This record gives sequence, C-alpha cells and structure tokens, in this order.
Amino acid sequence: MSRVAHPAGPRHGDVLPADHPPAAPEDLNDLPEQVWPRGAHRSGGVLTLGGVDVRDLAAEFGTPLYVCDEEDVRSRCREYLEAFSPEGRVFYAAKAFCSRAVLRWVSEEGLGVDVCTGGELEVALSAGVPPEQITMHGNNKLLDELSRAVSAGVGHIVVDSFEEIARLAYLSEDSPARPNILVRVTTGVEAHTHEFMATAHDDQKFGFSLASGAADEAVRRVIACPGLSFAGLHSHIGSQIFDTAGFEVAAHRVVGLAVRIRDEHGIEIAELDLGGGFGIAYTDEDDAPEVKDLAQSLREIVDGQCRAAGLARPRLTVEPGRGIVGPSTVSLYTVGTIKDVDGLRTYVSVDGGMSDNIRTALYDASYLCALASRASAAAPMLSRVVGRHCESGDIVVRHAWLPADLAPGDLLAVPATGAYCRSLASNYNHVPRPAVVAVSAGGNGGRGAARPIVRRETLDDLLSLDIG
Ligand SMILES: Cc1ncc(COP(=O)(O)O)c(C=O)c1O
Repeated sequence: MSRVAHPAGPRHGDVLPADHPPAAPEDLNDLPEQVWPRGAHRSGGVLTLGGVDVRDLAAEFGTPLYVCDEEDVRSRCREYLEAFSPEGRVFYAAKAFCSRAVLRWVSEEGLGVDVCTGGELEVALSAGVPPEQITMHGNNKLLDELSRAVSAGVGHIVVDSFEEIARLAYLSEDSPARPNILVRVTTGVEAHTHEFMATAHDDQKFGFSLASGAADEAVRRVIACPGLSFAGLHSHIGSQIFDTAGFEVAAHRVVGLAVRIRDEHGIEIAELDLGGGFGIAYTDEDDAPEVKDLAQSLREIVDGQCRAAGLARPRLTVEPGRGIVGPSTVSLYTVGTIKDVDGLRTYVSVDGGMSDNIRTALYDASYLCALASRASAAAPMLSRVVGRHCESGDIVVRHAWLPADLAPGDLLAVPATGAYCRSLASNYNHVPRPAVVAVSAGGNGGRGAARPIVRRETLDDLLSLDIG
C-alpha cells in the first residue's frame, strides 16, 4: 500500500480520479481567511478557535463537534446591518442553524429572525426575540402554526398559497391584530446555483407564479380580506448565489407587479423582501462578494427599477442565513481508520459523516479539511474524508490534501459548516447528533472560553423515542 503524495500537486502521468481534485496547497498549514472563522489561528501547528485549543475542545466535549465562533456570527450580523441600514432591514434565516443562543446573538445585534415552522417559531420566542421582529415563512404552514404566529403577533407572515390566505382570513376574524402579509412571488428566475437550491423558477413548490397571474390574484385576495394588512412582496431566488444578475431580474419583475398593484388598487407597496441566498466561500477557490458591495448593488437595482416605474422605493429587507452563520463554525472529527487505494487516493474515515453534514452528498458541496491537532511537515496526500455510515456516498470532503503522516486519533477540522449542517443533521444508523459548542475569544479573561449551546444527543435519547 502506498499513499499518493504530491509535493507540488498531481504530476503529469499520475493515475488521477475521474473527478479532478484541486492542486495541493503550497502550505498545508494555511488557513485561507475567507473560509475559516475570524477567530481561527494556528499556534505551534495546533488549531485554536476563538482562542481555545481544539484538543481541549475535543477532550471536554468529544467529537464529532460543531464549534461556533460567537464573535464571528456577531461581526457578520453587524456587517449586514451596517451595509443595509438605515433604511433596509436584515432578518436572519433561522433554518440555516436554529438555536436559542444564536437567535439571541442575532437579535441582540439588531437583526430580525425568519422562521419557517412552528418549531423554529418556538425557539425564537423562547430565545426572547420580540415577536414583531419575526417573519413566518413556509409553503405549507399548518393551521396550528398559523394560529400560533397570529396569536404571538409575529411581524410578518409570508403567504405562499391561496389556501393559506383563506386560513389566515379565518384566523384573523378572532384576532384583534391584523397580521401584516407579504405575498411570495415566483419570479421565474433561474438562479445560478445547485438545482435543489434554486427557488424562483416556475416549476417548483414555492410561491405564487408571476407568469400565470397567480401573484396578482393572491394580492387581490389579501387586499380584499379585512382582517389582513397587505404589506408588500417577497422573492427568494435561491441559495449560495455569487452574482447579482438573478436579483436584478427578480427585482425588475417584482417591481412590475408593484406597478400593477398601484394601478389596480391605488396602493404602493411598503415592503420589498428580496430573500437571502448570498454565497459564502467554502474553499479557497470561492470568491464571495463583500456584503457592502452586495448591499449597494441590491439598493441600486431596486432604486433603478422603482425610479423607472415611477414608484417610491419600498423598504428593502434581506434574509441571509448562510451568510451569517456559515463561516462561523468548524466541524471537528477524530480520524478512525485510514485506507490507501493504490495510485488513487487515501480514504480517511472519521467519527461523523453524512449524519452531521449531508451537504456533500446532497449538493455535491466542496469543503476544505485540515489536520488540526498537531504540526506536520509531511508531504500532501490526496485524501477523501468519509464518514462511518453505511453508504458509499457518505463523503464529508471529496478532495482533501492532508499530510501523509496522518494517523488514527488525529483531529481533522472542516470549516464553513455553520449553515445547513446541524440543521440538516439526522440520526441515520442511529448515530446521535453532535453537540454545538460556542467559543468566544473575549471569554475567560481574554484567554478564550467554550460553552455548549446544543448538547450532544445520547443513545438514551434515541432509545427513549423507541417505545415499541
Ligand atoms: C425564503 C428564504 N429566505 C432566506 C433563506 C436563506 O438563504 P441563505 O441561507 O442561502 O441565505 C432561504 C433559504 O432557503 C429561504 O428559503
């Protein structure tokens, strides 16, 4: 057995896998800053997160472990707010990662919170997020969930179907408050992203189609209902989007609808919610736009479209999820077994896998991976980091360059796992879901502190659900 080590990347003539890996980095100890949390450093080869040594984190909390840098989350909230304020608003999309601690941080930083189920709504309310700072989404909100949202007094409800408008009309008959309604519009935009992350082309489940006239009819029905207050329009074109071209087309089409609403009903929309979807860097090859540039583009797009249509600019809202929490979190794993496939690559099995990060299997997502627990001067080894589940698609990192002296017991760190990893985690193969630990460089007298914000599941937790 030999390990495929490429001191300067793959050489001509090597037997390479069909899916070509990126070239080996010059220095395996590098932490590309656009990918790692702002509080990530190396000290003597060992990774520290928020000032805390990852070996201590693994010893105290076990692995696999999600380590979330609180200051990173807070600083991104401030960036978004600064970029879109004073006139715009920023709501954190809780689906990216929903925990009381994180919802408290974003709320303390001045963001609102988007929820899309009754469960997320309860977490937000119990975290103390003011109800008027909550927007309720969902393509099939249950009657109970709508009822709870109305009685809690959430700031906005985004309607997604005619049935839902009728349900809200019924619920609002008994409610002293008139819920503020945004109508979700399917703009027909083909966002440049993975098929499962694009949400505005006509052939999918979300929203009212502009092309068919359903969006115009939805607005008519909301306005006709005395118990509901029509607030404006909502559009979300997809996720992990890097360019603003799709937003431009979506804004143009939504503003077209706003003009028709003015002409038909004499109402100018007060709010325009352009959703989330702003891309982040997962690898050093990703070049995500700066938030302030993004904000400026979106503002100019909306300003230009409204000016051209003779409309006053509505209040602009955005709903980033990934952009707030994605870069904050690193997944820590312990290496279990190592298998060399001659001439191809080395399979490194870790103690987690697709149950704590389904994104690689689901979206073919790319990640970086680094040896975190010690220094190594060994040559780079082309690796595939895989999990412990009974699926050959159980891949955490498809192409990883790791030092050739990697050994069982080493800790590996995978950055940018704050969004859609813990929230999409499962108990596949009856594996308990990992804990989430918050680290904070300012804690512990400036030496860095760690505290669990979501505890690790146990086998007893799983067994207690099985009452048969
Ligand atoms: C309506 C809506 N808003 C916001 C988001 C957040 O998207 P992202 O996490 O990519 O910013 C989503 C994600 O799917 C969404 O469906």
